[in-house]
Amino acid sequence: MNLMVFGAPGAGKGTQAKFLVEKYGIPQISTGDMLRAAIVEKTAMGMEAKRYMDAGELVPDSTIIGIIEERLAKEDCQKGFILDGFPRTLAQAEALDELLEKQGKKIDKVLSFEVPDELIIKRIAGRRVCPKCGASYHVEFNSPKAEGICDACGSELIIRKDDNKETVKNRLSNYHSQTAPLVDFYKNKGVFAQIDGSQKLEKVTQDMFAKL
Ligand code: AP5
Repeated sequence: MNLMVFGAPGAGKGTQAKFLVEKYGIPQISTGDMLRAAIVEKTAMGMEAKRYMDAGELVPDSTIIGIIEERLAKEDCQKGFILDGFPRTLAQAEALDELLEKQGKKIDKVLSFEVPDELIIKRIAGRRVCPKCGASYHVEFNSPKAEGICDACGSELIIRKDDNKETVKNRLSNYHSQTAPLVDFYKNKGVFAQIDGSQKLEKVTQDMFAKL
């Protein structure tokens, strides 16, 4: 099964993708996580991407399409995958279509989490992430068992560098201008499923599985 989690920054894509990984045993392919890993490794691509990410801007399409092409060719994607944070522009969506067509594949479902901007801002303000395993928590809505410590791997949780007020405003604005138009692109393909992402976490998960 080839899935995509879709929505604004902080809509809950990463949180829900983890439940899909557990249930279907297919990998989560998060372009944000891959870029952050490249920054930690200080690769040339990571250093270039950092400038855009710190400012809340989108990384150029050519860079992103290159890393997705390489990742989708790996063995663990052959039985399916969950795209998280990709595509984010029409050019990326068209490049993905081309790539999948060459492999005789297609996207089976786009799971779109709809959350109003005011709630997004609250969620991002309280987000804490694990720098080691990528798990995401919220100080109020989804807190770890021990304060500041990752349930999954015991590492100390951090605040993402781009989770500040100014950058979030920019990320939301880029989402509305460049990514939201993809809703019609996927609706026209008949694979788009809308989920009320503003509900309690468990209810969002339940609604998501009901769409599959
Ligand atoms: P990326 O890492 O993809 O960030 P994002 O899209 O901004 O999404 P987030 O990770 O912020 O949010 P999420 O939807 O996963 O929410 P989460 O589950 O954590 O990208 C970062 C940057 O990389 C971009 O700005 C860009 O520069 C670059 N980039 C990446 N991909 C790119 C691409 N394709 N093209 C160009 N540039 C690209 O949840 C958020 C919070 O809410 C958490 O605290 C969580 O615990 C909490 N929460 C989740 N669900 C609920 C719920 N139902 N109720 C209450 N709280 C909840």
